[in-house]
Amino acid sequence: MRTEQAGALADPAAISVADPGGMLALAASLGSQLREGFDTARSTGALPSPEGLRSIAVCGMGGSGVAGDVVRSLYADRLPIPVAVVKGYRLPEFCGRDTLVVAVSFSGNTEETLAAYREAASRGCRLVTVCAGGELAALSEADEVARVPVPAHVPVPRAALGFLAAAPIGILDAMGLVPPAEETVAEAAGVLEELAAAFGPDRTAAENEAKAVALWLAGRTPVVWGSEGLAEAAALRWKTQLNENPKIPAWAGVLPELDHNEVEGWSEGAGTSYGVVILRHPGEHARTGPRVDATLQAIATSGLEARQVGASGSGPLSWLLSLIMAGDFASTYLAIARGVDPMPVPVLASLKERLRA
Ligand code: F6R
Repeated sequence: MRTEQAGALADPAAISVADPGGMLALAASLGSQLREGFDTARSTGALPSPEGLRSIAVCGMGGSGVAGDVVRSLYADRLPIPVAVVKGYRLPEFCGRDTLVVAVSFSGNTEETLAAYREAASRGCRLVTVCAGGELAALSEADEVARVPVPAHVPVPRAALGFLAAAPIGILDAMGLVPPAEETVAEAAGVLEELAAAFGPDRTAAENEAKAVALWLAGRTPVVWGSEGLAEAAALRWKTQLNENPKIPAWAGVLPELDHNEVEGWSEGAGTSYGVVILRHPGEHARTGPRVDATLQAIATSGLEARQVGASGSGPLSWLLSLIMAGDFASTYLAIARGVDPMPVPVLASLKERLRA
């Protein structure tokens, strides 16, 4: 089985056939999406006033909701006002006229995000929307709410992460709420472009970490750990990409919290069919390194095997997005190795249809 899977990732032409929607090329476009999304957002007219702003809420689900995770993990410890990530129908009670609400929905038709938008509009929140079209675009126009457009040609929301995550960064930058982000975005885009080449289909598994991780995960149930903040957001994205691209169960855990509960579940022999990928970056808390070592020692009898993936670049945005890109590529390669088309999400689509009916 492993040999077959390694074979499936050995030939770039076969990879291209196994990825008819071009998910690998979309994963590789994260850097250019980031640049374009940031520029588009920054030049959006009629953004709300930052005067007297007391809180920020970023609303969105699934692939669009990651935009909120990115913003919170990048800025929560650097902003004097709280940032809430809303993944559901309801806004927190504190959201009002002095709250900036960014409603993100690739399709513009996600019921939870539309409900949060309507709630924000009725409370007089300072709204901005990010979408490719749909009802959210129509509401933005009718309500004269600033809208950051996302290109509709991207086939699925999770492949538009660069546009979706860059939009709130560009909005906060243009409103003067965060330090100017232009250089940071340019640095991250450059790092991501180099990384995309290193993860490319023409590189063998021996020289391509994304392929190596995919092959290592084949036949195991993945668990992804990241430390609070940046790596936590990246671990969550890995989990959802492992669910949606190769269509397998996967779990995410956060350090240090998992040391206070999850470790007990890794009892003797409990980890034999799992593999944990631990996401690391230079900005993590100084106790994370010793904690990772101590955690793995404490659960050694579980049989859980571990490997680490490190971030690239020289700042939080590059660290976060490079970790995300590694997971986007690894999960796509895992789909290809399993003979599964990474693009369609039939269960998700039929569930949405069922709820609409
Ligand atoms: C990812 C995906 C979902 C959607 C989510 C919300 O590819 O399809 O996670 O992102 O269902 O939909 P949108 O992004 O259109 O608001």
